[in-house]
Amino acid sequence: MQNNTFSTLFVGQNLIKLAEVDSTNNYLKLLLSKSEPLPEGTVIMADNQFAGRGQQHNLWQSEPGKNLTFSLYLKPKFLPVQQQFLLNMAISVALNNALSEFLGDEVKIKWPNDIYYQKLKLGGILIENLLSGQTYKSGIIGIGLNVNQVEFSGDLNYRAISLSQILHKNVDLTALLAVICSHIESQYLKLRGNNYFLLQVEYQQKLFQFEKTSKYRYNGRIIEGMITAVTEQGLLVINSKGVEKAYNFKEVEFII
Ligand code: BTN
Repeated sequence: MQNNTFSTLFVGQNLIKLAEVDSTNNYLKLLLSKSEPLPEGTVIMADNQFAGRGQQHNLWQSEPGKNLTFSLYLKPKFLPVQQQFLLNMAISVALNNALSEFLGDEVKIKWPNDIYYQKLKLGGILIENLLSGQTYKSGIIGIGLNVNQVEFSGDLNYRAISLSQILHKNVDLTALLAVICSHIESQYLKLRGNNYFLLQVEYQQKLFQFEKTSKYRYNGRIIEGMITAVTEQGLLVINSKGVEKAYNFKEVEFII
């Protein structure tokens, strides 16, 4: 159970490596539905996902053995259900900080929780919350990161990028996972310590196109404006022509 590669207290200490699975999020959910309790911080990683899932019912495509595809089990029972987006913020900031150790400050969070390098997608997060009434029971944090893949097919070819394409060398997957787990643990402990305001500020500062005049599509029309905030509930605030409006996920689209 004790994982000596990771210098964390609990995140990644119980590491389950699978050669192949449909989706690590599905696998983790299945484990949680069994009666055997699972330690918080358990990570399921897979060399190959044959039905990896992304946001908005998209597929998550990843070349076997080249990338990080994993799911982490957290129990943020301390977080009010209405503020569950704060967990997204904590994970996004952690992933951004971990990747910045390798890639510098061109790594950004594209609202709500994509990880970008310049204008290309490096990775994504799929958080599935299991609630029990108004209580947050468990969070399944699925993370997919392009690490050593150097060819992307179809339109991913001009939308995605990997660490090895940027660094021109391969990156050790377990070592990278250890860095990520350590950043996640540190942000999660801050969240548990109620440090919501600082987290929100840090998330905003790392946002792609934060306070930069850019174009967005809303209601079939192009608007020009500046991101000025993301609320605790996860709404994106854009100031267009001096008027601020908060947008829900899917309501507004970035034009990059
Ligand atoms: C996105 O669409 O940007 C989110 C992608 C999340 C992909 C990861 S890979 C590990 C975990 N298992 C899944 O099926 N999805 C997530």
